[in-house]
Amino acid sequence: MTATVLSGRRVVVGVSGSIAAYKAVSLARLLCERGAVVDVAMTPSATRFVGPLTFASLTHRPVVTDVLELDADQQIEHIELAEAADAIVLAPATANLLGELAAGLVGNAVTAIACASRAPVVVAPAMDAGMWTHPATQRNVATLREFGYIVIDPEVGELASGLTGIGRLAEPAAIVDAVERLFVRTGSLEGLSVVVSAGGTREPLDPVRFIGNRSSGKMGAAIAESARDRGASVTLVAGAMSVAPPRGVTVVEATTAQLMREAIIRAAPDADILVMAAAVADFAPARASQRKIKRSGDNLQVELVPNPDIVAEVGEMPDDVRPFLIGFAAESDDLEANAAAKLRDKGLDLIVGNVVGGPFDAIGSDENKVTVFGAEGPLTDWPMLPKRQVAERLWDLIGDRYRRRRTEGDGGPARTKGRRRS
Ligand code: CTP
Repeated sequence: MTATVLSGRRVVVGVSGSIAAYKAVSLARLLCERGAVVDVAMTPSATRFVGPLTFASLTHRPVVTDVLELDADQQIEHIELAEAADAIVLAPATANLLGELAAGLVGNAVTAIACASRAPVVVAPAMDAGMWTHPATQRNVATLREFGYIVIDPEVGELASGLTGIGRLAEPAAIVDAVERLFVRTGSLEGLSVVVSAGGTREPLDPVRFIGNRSSGKMGAAIAESARDRGASVTLVAGAMSVAPPRGVTVVEATTAQLMREAIIRAAPDADILVMAAAVADFAPARASQRKIKRSGDNLQVELVPNPDIVAEVGEMPDDVRPFLIGFAAESDDLEANAAAKLRDKGLDLIVGNVVGGPFDAIGSDENKVTVFGAEGPLTDWPMLPKRQVAERLWDLIGDRYRRRRTEGDGGPARTKGRRRS
């Protein structure tokens, strides 16, 4: 079998109870032919249209039909599948399934997997035309799009009722195309050297204590991972992180602002693109005590001195060494004005802003809602998305801007640098 973008990918096909369930058989077969490892989950009503044995025989894997099922290792099957999935395809998706997904109701194996997973979801609805055009269905579809789901609209044609109208499941080949597009990296970063900083810095007070922040490094890790998958040679300058760095990237540990500065200033001249996602402490104790500070009963005064602004220093580098520069801004108020000021003052090409301190806390979360700003103002209007999907969208945008800068040949910083690393 020739390698395709789906080779080795774990794809979950969720089938719900529509007459179009028979087309999910072709869909599963096509996905298997392209090299995907396909697991099928079915709602109870789907099993009345097509037998699970049909899917099991095609995919050579067990089919999940019961949300309360345990697998051979006594693990909860739908959670295992949700975590392992690289993509989820819900086809056919009935009006009822759309409603359940939009409302977060997880009473069957299909909705439970979709809800528990952070993998991208493709939904291909199929139903009667009247149901499809009903405002409730349209509202549910809009909600799913807000979640970041990719909805493949049904087609016009003859329906099970004998009437002609909109509601037919899209052709399996079109659904496979949509799944493949999830993995085709637009904006390849092949041949580029990318440096990403992630996590928070810890500024020592004494041998055991530090001043730090709650940054988890998840956003930066996702950005590094996505750049790696697009073919870039990636260096991750890692502060304190609560997640493991992605495999296949060069990791430079830098847990204080000073160490991070050294690592970034050393790496920047060889980098084509620098994404400064780390939460760098703005201040550090003037002196770290060599000995553990003892409780004396008195107030303790700690003098804090400013840390270097790392990204601003890179922003001032001469054009022939300055990488294309992306900063982050986490703001509790006035995101647009503050992001614009940071973009200008730090000499950035783009800045990724998010609101902190509100009801949603992005720090440590697996999801984030960001707006990217350029010199001309806000460039995006993205919903709340899993951080990995934020990273994908960021690279689509950054890659595009970077290439535009390079082809314009405006003497700006964007050009492929001589690679010194292997
Ligand atoms: N940054 C940096 N060096 C610092 C502080 C921040 O390189 N000493 C970078 C961050 O990695 C981020 C951007 O600057 O990409 C904005 O960080 P932020 O902490 O929001 O900016 P500050 O300039 O510290 O502004 P504030 O006063 O709002 O904290």
